[in-house]
Amino acid sequence: MSEETPFLHESPSAQLAARVERRWATVCALIIALFTAVAAFAGIHQATMPQARVETISPTRLHLGGEFVETNLGTAVEPDGSVTVRAIGQEYSFTPECILVPTDTAITFRAATPDVIHGFLIEGTNVNTMLVPGYVATVHARFDAAGEHAMPCQEFCGVGHEGMWAKVKVIDRAEFLKMADTKPRLSCVE
Ligand code: CUA
Repeated sequence: MSEETPFLHESPSAQLAARVERRWATVCALIIALFTAVAAFAGIHQATMPQARVETISPTRLHLGGEFVETNLGTAVEPDGSVTVRAIGQEYSFTPECILVPTDTAITFRAATPDVIHGFLIEGTNVNTMLVPGYVATVHARFDAAGEHAMPCQEFCGVGHEGMWAKVKVIDRAEFLKMADTKPRLSCVE
């Protein structure tokens, strides 16, 4: 019996089992190779495509004029019934600290930062982006139910990073619209 044929001395069923096992090992290796190829293709494809939209803004002049001045921050109702939330993330807080939005409404979040990269993430939703100095981050969302969502900064931004939190409070659309009648920019900051 030679070294090259280690299974010859085994019973036919053992040889069969060994063959089946080798075949399955090959199938597993092929599946792993396929997944790796798919992940690599998706990553490289995405990295080589241009961004869908790029909107720039001067980080040093954010607060001096235009869309992100303090009086314009918060939630505004648009003529088409949708809602726009404007917010700023800075070391180490968000303004407004409590964002008020209605249920069952198309919501556009627009946010920017005057200093370093921060995270913009609303827990329990798929809102998750970065605030990059020089750019406006835009995310669309819709909330089906009233409630509160935590909004932690999820990009390390300095010594105060872990204390950088805001929250998003979702209230009934009718109640929200009643409040919006009397105030052009809403928030739940007390
Ligand atoms: Cu801002 Cu971490």
